[in-house]
Amino acid sequence: MKPVILDVDTGLDDACALLLAARHPELDLKAVTCAGGNVGLDDVVRNTLTVLDAAGRPDVPVARGAAVPLLQPVRMARHVHGADGLGDIDWPRSTRTTDRRHAVELLRDVLREAAATGELITLIPLAPLTNIALLLRTYPDAAAGLREIVFMGGAARIGNATASAEFNIWTDPEAAAIVLTAAGELGVPTTMYGLDVFYDVVVTLEQARGLSGSPSAELARKLIEKRSSLYQSDGASIGDGGAVCAVIDPSGLTTQPFPVRIELSGSWSRGRTIVDTRDWSADLTSDPHGLSPTKVQVATAVDGKRYAELWL
Ligand code: BDR
Ligand code: CA
Repeated sequence: MKPVILDVDTGLDDACALLLAARHPELDLKAVTCAGGNVGLDDVVRNTLTVLDAAGRPDVPVARGAAVPLLQPVRMARHVHGADGLGDIDWPRSTRTTDRRHAVELLRDVLREAAATGELITLIPLAPLTNIALLLRTYPDAAAGLREIVFMGGAARIGNATASAEFNIWTDPEAAAIVLTAAGELGVPTTMYGLDVFYDVVVTLEQARGLSGSPSAELARKLIEKRSSLYQSDGASIGDGGAVCAVIDPSGLTTQPFPVRIELSGSWSRGRTIVDTRDWSADLTSDPHGLSPTKVQVATAVDGKRYAELWL
């Protein structure tokens, strides 16, 4: 089994990812950490516990993390995820409590243990990267427990929060810059599952209607129905869920190694991932922050049908 940790801002599509990570027989879900993002931290935590309850996984430790980005105020996406972040669907919400540790401490402990046993962990951040930046700056030794990072965020082409920037990176660009820089310095292999593939793993309403017989299947169906109705479509992308598919079945994802920088200023481009697709690397100007770009495996294409089947 592949040990994984998810960092989430649950979120309808984070819920799709959590269900898959909690239920797939090849994954060992060690912990889930929460950050403010799509909705406020209290809603994120409640939604996360609710999804894990539905998946029959109350054993997975869940920790509260950063409520707000490092520098700028939190900006949510309730128009995409509903007022409570879980599409306001008719489903009993969890009343369970979280692990007593802060997300950064839970990550530190699980990763240190992984480093000690040699069972290295794949970290799957699906939210603004605030918790992960705090972790790598506070306890850089914990990176020794990482096999790789596969994060949902960014785009080589268009954005969604703005024309330039994807929501997770746009919400906390400083955190994203810290994580990419630290991953480069600490030698952690990193994959960017961005908007270039994010929308391409689509589950149709017809497929979703076949999901029944267990709480996790019922919830999965409701998530797709809700996302489809929000997008006024006859199906919906599993969004963040695709990043979990990529960890289970990497051969369904095409990636290319490119240097990536985070735009930290710019009136219309703050939060953009600058993916350098040139086949030469000279820059005519120097980085204003003195940061070197990190080489990241950038997802450029996905076998959407295969991942949709995997999720189903
Ligand atoms: C990302 O932002 C959130 O709305 C989703 O949960 C996903 O992680 C897409 O830009
Ligand atoms: Ca998310």
